[in-house]
Amino acid sequence: MIKILDKAHIAPNIHCCTVDAPDIARKAKAGQFVIVIPDEFSERIPITISDWDTEAGTVTIVFLEIGAATQRFAELQPGDTIYSFTGPLGRPFEFDNFGKVALVGGCYGIGGIYPAAKALKEKGNEVICYSEARSKFLLYWNDKLEKVSDEVRYATVDGSLGFKGHAYDFLTTNLQSGERFERVMAVGCTYMMYRISEATRPFGIKTIVSMNPVMIDGTGMCGACRLVVKGETKFACVDGPHFDGHQVDWDVVLSRRKAYLEEEIISKERW
Ligand SMILES: Cc1cc2nc3c(=O)[nH]c(=O)nc-3n(C[C@H](O)[C@H](O)[C@H](O)COP(=O)(O)OP(=O)(O)OC[C@H]3O[C@@H](n4cnc5c(N)ncnc54)[C@H](O)[C@@H]3O)c2cc1C
Ligand code: FES
Repeated sequence: MIKILDKAHIAPNIHCCTVDAPDIARKAKAGQFVIVIPDEFSERIPITISDWDTEAGTVTIVFLEIGAATQRFAELQPGDTIYSFTGPLGRPFEFDNFGKVALVGGCYGIGGIYPAAKALKEKGNEVICYSEARSKFLLYWNDKLEKVSDEVRYATVDGSLGFKGHAYDFLTTNLQSGERFERVMAVGCTYMMYRISEATRPFGIKTIVSMNPVMIDGTGMCGACRLVVKGETKFACVDGPHFDGHQVDWDVVLSRRKAYLEEEIISKERW
């Protein structure tokens, strides 16, 4: 059992939760995830580690309240215990001095790119973050991201802050006007990561995406998280979750994401 120390509703349907998990905080690296089971009746939910403090022994995650399990998680409050919180899992992001790097985050991925921005900045990279949402009030962690980046570029679909449109439109505009990045990394919804990969493909910029397929055990045994990458089957939990976006078979990913949609809707209605 893991204790919730702090929990905040940081944007509509988006929650930030800090837990007491010294063993995970000691080992965590940017890009890794945990598997959370909110209570004994819930599913296993993979969630990216957004921040951690080795001295305080705390781990922070940002999650979107979407179906039955995340709704149950959202109901827990500081002082409550989480049934199971396992990690860190998956391979970390690759960190080096690449030069100029663009990090793209949308939805829960804004929290997901934060540790990557911090680690890449420490390696001496020029870090440009693209933070996207439908509207300004759905953005969060602006101050945190600005502190660890050279520049944060905002994209809102309604134009209430920064570029009017999606982050992939903003990035495409920048690339077409001659800006160059040595590497692009994207964390967020599958469609956004697909579009970012397509935006960078003509420019030959290596693009890393953080894949979020359905996971069950998170240890490579069940096969639920399989993806096709460069024609080979890979398991996101142990081979990823980060892959080269130009090598991912997006048709397979996008169709598998919807495989349990009907059951998920029923499960939420029954909850
Ligand atoms: C490696 C990895 C890292 C991840 N990191 C994060 C993270 O940091 N933060 C985060 O928030 N998520 C993250 N995810 C995604 C997260 O794991 C899922 O969102 C979560 O498991 C959903 O669980 P659920 O039971 O609440 O929703 P589910 O019931 O599994 O529902 C999910 C899907 O069903 C659909 N759905 C459910 N109910 C309804 C309904 N009533 N009407 C219409 N559609 C519906 C949703 O569109 C959604 O696509 C990550 C996933 C992976 C694999
Ligand atoms: S989640 Fe089961 S193999 Fe990856």
